[in-house]
Amino acid sequence: MSTEETPPYASGVSTGSTTGAAPIKRIRTHHLREMKQRGEKFAMLTAYEQYAAQTFDEAGIEVLLVGDSASNNVFGNETSLPVTVDELIPLARAVSRSVRRALVVADLPFGSYQASPEQAYLTAVRFMKEANAHAVKLEGGIEMAPQVRKLTEGGIPVMAHIGFTPQSEHNLGGYRVQGRGTAAAKVVAEARAMEEAGAFAVVMEMVPGDVAAEVTKSVAIPTIGIGAGLDCDAQVLVWQDAFGLRTGRMPRFVKQYADLHGALLQAARDYAADVKAGTFPGPEHTF
Ligand code: KIV
Repeated sequence: MSTEETPPYASGVSTGSTTGAAPIKRIRTHHLREMKQRGEKFAMLTAYEQYAAQTFDEAGIEVLLVGDSASNNVFGNETSLPVTVDELIPLARAVSRSVRRALVVADLPFGSYQASPEQAYLTAVRFMKEANAHAVKLEGGIEMAPQVRKLTEGGIPVMAHIGFTPQSEHNLGGYRVQGRGTAAAKVVAEARAMEEAGAFAVVMEMVPGDVAAEVTKSVAIPTIGIGAGLDCDAQVLVWQDAFGLRTGRMPRFVKQYADLHGALLQAARDYAADVKAGTFPGPEHTF
């Protein structure tokens, strides 16, 4: 039996099986909390379309985030700010259709939830109904507690996101580590406020490792780090960064596990060379 068929938790809902193998159980928010209680880490990656989502699900990645980072990893924008709800919903739908086990979290884009808890609820409902997301993520700390409460009371699981919050990069003065020195207490207070409001997990981005460790000890919900050190309960990376599809200068917190850009570049060059040389298609590709 594969690891996916024996997930590290006690209960779950079968997603069925078309192969006759034992059914795979869907990861639920409570499984993540139970993993934290057992001291077991989990992995999260972004995903924006079918094949990456299927592959990461097959690899056993517990959580897939349809991040607003699609703005600068799919749609060609410079930042996450321009992406819209209407642009993200089809991506989230493709991801949720493509996985059998992973928990699919959809990011609420900039401007779609900050105005009021009601705005947040209506936006989140669209992701749950139209994209079949299993949860949503929103950025912000104490000021977002009313939004988190409204969503969770309305049946929508919420992942919070504190520390450096890319949607506020202009307010924060650019990509900067948050929570250094006296600001550490604010990060701890924000995580606690998110937990109290009902969030099931909290992403911490670009926070000093010792502060993230303190937050992780202070809350019962799992902490998911990105540039927040080893002591978080889980880690998340943008997949194009982690697997080398994106090139250029990477943030210090990125580890590259593959060179997909290099592989794709070579494959495209080989294909073009075959076409130009008249060696593709061969007889085996011809009807
Ligand atoms: O949108 C995104 O990719 C994110 C992760 C970096 C956490 O929010």
